[in-house]
Amino acid sequence: MNKYALIVAMVVIVWLVTGAAVAQQKPAKKVSAEVARGKYLVQIAGCNDCHTPGYAAAGGKVDEKLWLTGDQLGWRGPWGTTYAPNLRLLVRDMTADQFMKLARSRLRPPMPWFNLRDMSDRDVKAIYAYLKHLGPAGQPAPQYVPPDQTPSGPFVQFPAAPK
Ligand code: HEC
Repeated sequence: MNKYALIVAMVVIVWLVTGAAVAQQKPAKKVSAEVARGKYLVQIAGCNDCHTPGYAAAGGKVDEKLWLTGDQLGWRGPWGTTYAPNLRLLVRDMTADQFMKLARSRLRPPMPWFNLRDMSDRDVKAIYAYLKHLGPAGQPAPQYVPPDQTPSGPFVQFPAAPK
């Protein structure tokens, strides 16, 4: 092999190796603008505060994989004991229209249903798109417990309303 042939062979080898390395790099997962907006809304509207386990206590430092998977902590008051449901399992078999209907209905405390009610259709759809993007994960939250029964797991007791 003469000198030039050797140089050409080396250039081809380097080109092949770097080409393969570039091909192996996975492109960053791109999300749509709607999904990105849904994530932003979930963060600033406080949905994670109740619907993500340990979110508030950890100052929001919870892996996104766990976001909106619901919580085992009960909220007890005159309405009974409610649990922030797993929203990712909730939307698994739900259409955007069904989610919109739910977002426009009255829910039990301490769910700030009135905030969700006042959100624009576009924003509610973005939250739905984000939930679909995250996909189903986790377990369902505990069932609602009526006021005359004591929940078996941990719960926050709301004080009686001031007279
Ligand atoms: C202060 C705690 C809290 C916050 C903040 C909160 N939720 Fe909830 N959410 C709850 C609880 C508790 C329930 C269950 C209410 C019930 O049993 O009627 C609930 C119920 C829901 C439901 C109905 C689920 C079903 O199965 O019917 C949806 C949808 C929902 N929340 C979405 C949201 C979104 C979106 C946000 C952010 C904008 C949010 N929540 C913020 C506590 C909260």
